[in-house]
Amino acid sequence: MQLKAENVFKPGSFPEYTYVSRNYENTGIPYELRLKQALRTAGCLTSIIGPSKMGKTILCEKVIGIDNIVEISGADFDINTDFWAIVAAKVGLPYLGEITTERETIEGNHRENEEQKERYILSKDKVIQYYKDNEKVLVIDDFHYASKEMQIKMAQQLKDAIRRELKVVVVSLPHRADDAIRQNADLSGRLSLINIETWKESDLKEIALKGFKQLNIKISDEVASQLSVECLTSPQLMQYICLSICTLLEDKNENVVKTDILKTAYRFTTVNFNYSDVVNVMSKGPNPRGKKRKLFKTVSQKELDLYGLIVESLAKNPPIMEMNFDMLYDRITNLIPIDNIKPDKQSVKNHLNNLQMILEDKEEIYKAIEWKDGKIYILDPLFLFYLRWGRMDE
Ligand SMILES: Nc1ncnc2c1ncn2[C@@H]1O[C@H](COP(=O)(O)OP(=O)(O)OP(=O)(O)O)[C@@H](O)[C@H]1O
Ligand SMILES: [Mg+2]
Repeated sequence: MQLKAENVFKPGSFPEYTYVSRNYENTGIPYELRLKQALRTAGCLTSIIGPSKMGKTILCEKVIGIDNIVEISGADFDINTDFWAIVAAKVGLPYLGEITTERETIEGNHRENEEQKERYILSKDKVIQYYKDNEKVLVIDDFHYASKEMQIKMAQQLKDAIRRELKVVVVSLPHRADDAIRQNADLSGRLSLINIETWKESDLKEIALKGFKQLNIKISDEVASQLSVECLTSPQLMQYICLSICTLLEDKNENVVKTDILKTAYRFTTVNFNYSDVVNVMSKGPNPRGKKRKLFKTVSQKELDLYGLIVESLAKNPPIMEMNFDMLYDRITNLIPIDNIKPDKQSVKNHLNNLQMILEDKEEIYKAIEWKDGKIYILDPLFLFYLRWGRMDE
């Protein structure tokens, strides 16, 4: 039976037909085997850390399997929740409750039903035993969503639980409050650490090649390589772009991916992403409080202040996720016609500092870039992709 594109390319869930296995830190061992081994190490907790959308959850689902995985999000816990009550509830165990028993009594000539209520608490031991008997693996995903306090509480509970051989995986973003696990002296020597790296172009290309083959759509190696650059280290973006390509091809009744369709596919893909507020905040910079900013005329006839120039320079070719200052500065000066006055290095740095300050105070989605230690990092590949293809004025 012919597969449908939406079942082959799955940006939002488990990609059965386009799952690609990667090599773990150039060891020649696949990630799947690394996780399998970690899970077999009794008495140890597995800590998976990796950037957003790089396949942490998918890896767990692949290795542990749908029947055995019990996924809980860090967001499910607030400080008042009983850790074990949630762990029990996820597998349908009544942890805390009331049992009602009825007893018939005979009083005089008539029978009476007497209800007796009893409160009980299922012990944590029973919960652990249930997980072990049923080969369940507890995956605490997005651990960083739990508050600091709750993380410490959870770490204490986990320390005891892994000693009793409960299998636990904790998944978290890098640099985000996973210290309760990795820096916890009580857990040292009891951790299996797995770092998820960003994706290489060759692995990303594999997603496209695999999927289009399943769909009997032709794609040359060269076109697949172009896609793998454009998807900015993100397997999710690759899945999105490929799905867009399929929709466009179906509409034209074609079955070859040619270069002329790519730009449309990229633009088409960005309709899923809503970063216009983020781009606005970045290009406006801090409130100018009535002061006029210096404007620069660009080669493409726009008038931009330095914040606008910074944003513009990030979007340029080739797409780069990590840039040192000189490279960024070159890009900025290249936006301005040769004979015109250029901004000086120090003022560009000052503007970057201001930008960083604004973003730090905003919601998570605004933390798409970071200016740190003389480098600018793109933290969210979808944001850069939006910047490159999502703005209609280009
Ligand atoms: N091994 C893989 N092969 C092919 N595609 C993948 C693979 N891993 C991830 N993807 C694609 O990337 C998407 C995001 O993966 P996943 O949800 O696992 O990321 P994550 O690291 O858990 O992200 P988050 O930090 O937001 O929780 C998947 O839905 C899938 O489309
Ligand atoms: Mg995840």
